[in-house]
Amino acid sequence: MLYSTMHRVLTATIIISNCNRMMAIYYRVILLLIVSSRTNGSCNFTVSVPTNAKPGTDVVSVQSLMRMEKEELPCVIVEGDLYGRFTVSTNCTIVVARPLDSSVQSKYLLKIRVRRLQNPGDLVVRLKVNVTNVLGYPPVYNETCKTPVRHSVEGTSEFLFSGTLTAEFETTSGDVMFLKETLNKPREVWDMDSRKLSIITGNTCQFSAVFGVRGLNDVMVAAELFQSHHVNFTLKVFCQAESGQMPKVSVQLFSTQSKLKSDLHPLEQVVPNVMAKLQHPPLVYLFSVAYPTKSPTRYNCKFPSLQRPIMLSTDIDTVRVKHVQRITLDVNPVGCAPGKYGLLCDKTCICENSARCHGFNGACKCTDGWQGVACDIPKPGVSVTTTPSDPSDIFISANIIIHCQVHHLDVNTLSLRLPNESVIVSYGANRLDKTLFNIQSKDSGPYVCQVRDTRRNTFKTTIVLDIANCPPNKKGQLCDERCDCSGFARCDRWVGCVCPPGRTGTRCETTCPDGTYGKDCGKACSCQHGAICSNSDGTCTCTAGWYGSDCNVRCPKYRYGLRCQQACTCKNDAVCDNVDGSCACVAPWTGKDCDEKQPTRSEPLVESLVPVGCLIVLVVFIATILYKKNFVCRLAHRIDGETEVVLEIEQVEADLAQTVRPGWLSRWETTSRHLTLGHLIGLGVFGHVIQGTLQTSDGEIGVAAKSVRRKDTQCYRNFYREAAILVAVHEDQHHDNFRSNIIRLLGLINESSHKYILLEYASKGNLLRLMRREKRRDGAQSFLQCLRYAVHIARALQELQRLAITHCDVAARNVLITADDVAKLADFGLARDVYATVQYVADDGNGKEELAKNLESEVFPLNWMSLESLETGQYTCQSDVWSFGVLLWEISTLGQEPRYDGNNRPSCLRLARTLRRGIRLRRPPECSGEMYDVMSSCWQENPSARPGADVVEKRLLQLNLAFEMETAV
Ligand code: ADE
Repeated sequence: MLYSTMHRVLTATIIISNCNRMMAIYYRVILLLIVSSRTNGSCNFTVSVPTNAKPGTDVVSVQSLMRMEKEELPCVIVEGDLYGRFTVSTNCTIVVARPLDSSVQSKYLLKIRVRRLQNPGDLVVRLKVNVTNVLGYPPVYNETCKTPVRHSVEGTSEFLFSGTLTAEFETTSGDVMFLKETLNKPREVWDMDSRKLSIITGNTCQFSAVFGVRGLNDVMVAAELFQSHHVNFTLKVFCQAESGQMPKVSVQLFSTQSKLKSDLHPLEQVVPNVMAKLQHPPLVYLFSVAYPTKSPTRYNCKFPSLQRPIMLSTDIDTVRVKHVQRITLDVNPVGCAPGKYGLLCDKTCICENSARCHGFNGACKCTDGWQGVACDIPKPGVSVTTTPSDPSDIFISANIIIHCQVHHLDVNTLSLRLPNESVIVSYGANRLDKTLFNIQSKDSGPYVCQVRDTRRNTFKTTIVLDIANCPPNKKGQLCDERCDCSGFARCDRWVGCVCPPGRTGTRCETTCPDGTYGKDCGKACSCQHGAICSNSDGTCTCTAGWYGSDCNVRCPKYRYGLRCQQACTCKNDAVCDNVDGSCACVAPWTGKDCDEKQPTRSEPLVESLVPVGCLIVLVVFIATILYKKNFVCRLAHRIDGETEVVLEIEQVEADLAQTVRPGWLSRWETTSRHLTLGHLIGLGVFGHVIQGTLQTSDGEIGVAAKSVRRKDTQCYRNFYREAAILVAVHEDQHHDNFRSNIIRLLGLINESSHKYILLEYASKGNLLRLMRREKRRDGAQSFLQCLRYAVHIARALQELQRLAITHCDVAARNVLITADDVAKLADFGLARDVYATVQYVADDGNGKEELAKNLESEVFPLNWMSLESLETGQYTCQSDVWSFGVLLWEISTLGQEPRYDGNNRPSCLRLARTLRRGIRLRRPPECSGEMYDVMSSCWQENPSARPGADVVEKRLLQLNLAFEMETAV
């Protein structure tokens, strides 16, 4: 109080002032004392400053302290500030220069030399600075919720987390809608009014954010929500993590129109004086996340049931929502770019000397030799580390290195004491490394690094090694038994295989029995109506006719099929079957759609003559011609290019909902700046392929960049379908890039003007071209090699079968051969999952003639298609086996085009009839009986009578062996 008028102190407070060792009594007295002792006198002052004072904060003005405002006082800190925490600005003001940390140093005794320009001699001021504790500071680096540093592709997320919100709801018009929104960038409304957003972060892995909403649409939705729930001012959506009790998300909506203090109380608790900060928007969201984990988490949200329908605007449409069936939020901690932290990754880390910065609160985790809130204060001493650093890599029989490293000391001696009491000593060096070969349990115990510096101070640090694990895949007392666990199971020395959720058995070789899931298959599935239950997390994949998280909700009245996406066609009050859409007519109506009054003996209908698959081809053909003639253009023109792309992505996601995980595109996205394109290497109906190089963190790699051939619906659909299928394949937990026979995906580029699927470059090109080239050389050797390729593709089909994916275009032209002679299945543009029953749809080519040609050849590879695919348009893994049989035929002829009865281009209808009559591709003259048997078995009329890809692989391996022996003789 006394001094408040004497000097300018912004955050610091002076406690005691003492000049010339006299106690401070009264400021006039002090002034006198100062004045009287200014020649070689020394003044003592004490101030305190909070530990969280930011660099740049004034601590105290020495000039004011000494009542010498009129004099110019150049001064300098000459002692007491070894690590430069303070500096001096004008008027001899002491300023915080670097972050303080009371836990490292809570008192500074600064010696300040003050030059008096008008008087001879310097004055010495001793300033004691007490650094006081502040509750909650410095922030704690919490390991349980640490987030990664996002070095990868820019722009995938602007948040610390990426999230996907999925909702299932029923509209008043009877539709079931599935909404999926990726939350990785601030939406426009959040940005409004210069982002009136307050964020509180905690040390306990929690975030709370409050933001005001002004967007008209959101205000209207909120008003409807309040009305619907008969509440006026608050509404809460609460989400619980699937995995356990603790992690939770809650979103509360508050109307600030409330005059009741208690209504806004929860808000005030999080942000005191929140309304003043947000300047009274009509609505405020309070968003709280508890995230005590490092892993992706799924939250299931409870949305209060609606008393009245509410309006919901999506990017495409506005609908009235009658019932919200399910809301899930998938949260994935993606981390911020280096040097940034916070929910919006907008805060700058202060960590130095390679310290890690915590994504939640910016707390620094110092590397050895550094301390302080910013890890910028040297920490003299010695550290001990090991190589490998991960304790799980330190096992019996491994070779390890113990490193002793001295920090900020002049070393006299450095020593390492081993558990067996032997000591290794070095002189003068600040580093000592000791390699231990073939470590055993007896090497367990403390390893002590000790340093003695030139001032005879001693520092030591100990690491305790517990060498108890067996080498990878080994178990038992002597580590001499093998685990041989399947999949991603862990091999434990005493327990053996420790299975991941969804697997069981001594080697985790079996998936959980039906109806169970999770760790040790200990949880009961709740999926109903024949839904498939995920072994690992119990999520349900509904069968046709049902939806909801447990698949216990029947499709609404006018919908049927998978995810209720088909519209019923039943007329005249008929009841539509939720599974297959068949109509139960009410008299007197009959017919498929219950729109015929008299049952008439049907004429031989077109449908009974023409198989459904052929009809579809016909419809597509007509539609395509109409499209070319601009009949359909009006619709197309309403949609701009990018919207079309978004719609196609959504369509592909809806089609492949059972197969691809949300966020698939962003997880694989890279930027075109990393891609250098070369020359064209392939031109297909829907896309083209360019050779290129991709810059990765491991250097440059050769790639094949596949893009759309034209910017139209069909090309985009095939492009995204291929991308999504490849992502699903590559994200499967059992996928192994080095063993897989599916072309490797390296990344995706999805910019508005550059869209590429980046694939490994297979330098030997496609199998068809290779065979045609090789034919002219040594036929027998080429055939043998091709047989090996066939084995590879049989393996690719097994991989696809495991993932319930059908390729739909297995043919030699779609097999690529790598530099090291591995065949890889490629061209997944027509692939789908087995849950989808959609056909190919052809698009316009370049002219009518070309189109017709496409329809009958490339776009519809009729001669490779199974009987049931031709007739019904259905594709299964067994129909891929049929096409694989045709691929074997291509191999047997080293690249001839398959023709039935010499007819090159049969119509779909004619071909189906031919096959029904039992006619198949003829045995090529050079093909052995055994080989023809294998391919013929793939062409059995009954799909389930065909061999699986695993059986085909075995038979081919036998043939291969026999053929090798034959040619060797
Ligand atoms: N043609 C199409 N895709 C290719 C790839 N990945 N490598 C080489 N040629 C190709």
